[in-house]
Amino acid sequence: MKNQMFAVALALTLGAGYTLSAFAQAKPDALVKMRQSAMTLQGKYFGPLGLMNAGKLPYNADVVARNAGFLDSLSQMPWDGFTEDTKGEKSRALPEIYSNPAGFKTAQDNFRGAVTKLVGAAKSGEGPAKAAIVEVLNNCNGCHKQFRSQ
Ligand code: HEC
Repeated sequence: MKNQMFAVALALTLGAGYTLSAFAQAKPDALVKMRQSAMTLQGKYFGPLGLMNAGKLPYNADVVARNAGFLDSLSQMPWDGFTEDTKGEKSRALPEIYSNPAGFKTAQDNFRGAVTKLVGAAKSGEGPAKAAIVEVLNNCNGCHKQFRSQ
């Protein structure tokens, strides 16, 4: 409690700018945890869409639209957690992420493009939405195959 109060007082004294830059310098193990958490949430919100596409859940346009919106934000979050200083941490990130940064960036951009398409297609009915779901899925799997250990 005392420590917490001290932390709050410190943050207030030093101002928001300092607090933000302190967050930007998160420790490597924390960065790994955060990037994995963003991935886990992508799994949570993409999962039902994959099941709908496979016919294992009834198609629900409202859920597709809501989850596509969540994915639009989540799909931007993991990437700044893949910093060089996390290389020594326990994780499934393959060394190719750091030896082929341009390839990793392309995989992110293609994935982001597929998610943007899904956001639009979610309003266009079941056929287009399912096609966009498949495209997102292919991007998840493609990147995992190249950049994540199995
Ligand atoms: C551009 C590459 C890339 C894309 C696209 C991508 N992932 Fe990942 N994902 C990774 C990497 C790399 C890891 C390993 C991270 C680690 O262990 O630090 C990972 C890990 C995960 C994990 C495990 C998290 C954990 O706690 O260990 C899940 C779940 C996951 N991804 C789901 C998804 C889903 C669902 C999508 C698509 C909607 C997706 N990912 C798209 C690269 C990607």
